Amino acid sequence: MINLDLEKLPRHIAIIMDGNGRWAQRHTLGRISGHKKGAEAVRVAVRTCREIGIQYLTLYAFSVENWIRPPEEVNALMDLLEEYLRSETTEMIKNNIRLATIGNVDALRDSIKNLLLDIMEKTAKNNRLILNLALSYGGRDEIVEAVRKIIGDCRTNKITPAELTKDSFSSYLYTAHMPDPDLLIRTSGEYRLSNFLLWQMAYTEFYFTDILWPDFKKEDLLKAIADYQQRERRYGLTSDQLHRDYNK
Ligand code: FPP
Repeated sequence: MINLDLEKLPRHIAIIMDGNGRWAQRHTLGRISGHKKGAEAVRVAVRTCREIGIQYLTLYAFSVENWIRPPEEVNALMDLLEEYLRSETTEMIKNNIRLATIGNVDALRDSIKNLLLDIMEKTAKNNRLILNLALSYGGRDEIVEAVRKIIGDCRTNKITPAELTKDSFSSYLYTAHMPDPDLLIRTSGEYRLSNFLLWQMAYTEFYFTDILWPDFKKEDLLKAIADYQQRERRYGLTSDQLHRDYNK
């Protein structure tokens, strides 16, 4: 039994879903079977986050670097994404889940782009859980794109360089209007950020597990959240400062 403090839930969880290929290898299956099983684990994670009251879940579904995988694998991942979106539309509407995306969505095939637009429109007013899919996403690309927009806005006098702050910079990122992740989970025993939410994770708590993504169950997610709840987030302060009541 994993006991969570429902008053101290992370508001935003980000997940690097890693290990589909190794899962398939261990089961003497092709890589695509691993991704299929991984899509099932996505369903479980989304359901769990909705049930316990997480507000934002960002999933690294396809990185900008993933395009250079063998074309059969890229196609299979796109097929799985499309299938996932089609099969979950009704559930998202019914369960008060809002779909959002980050990344260069323009690079995706038209059928997926249209589906995403349709679901985002249909779920725009939902507010229990925001399911944010990182698609053709790269953190450095995101930062460079933000800088380009800022330069454009400087040229048209919408902003001056002196007016730019950390907060206004954040509003140029794909994640504008979203809180930064409180908790990052990476599965499969890899300890890297892999170009994921580089700016946004400045103060995020990291949780790594050896479990391969297709095996990542509800209990594993709850365990990661319980671990997060034991952490002391100091944001540069000392522990004493954090616990002192300055109003006394
Ligand atoms: C990493 O495993 C996973 C991916 C590259 C893609 C994640 C995709 C899914 C979980 C399935 C489809 C997604 C949705 C949203 C329905 P890997 O292939 O890098 O594994 P390996 O490191 O063991 O080879």
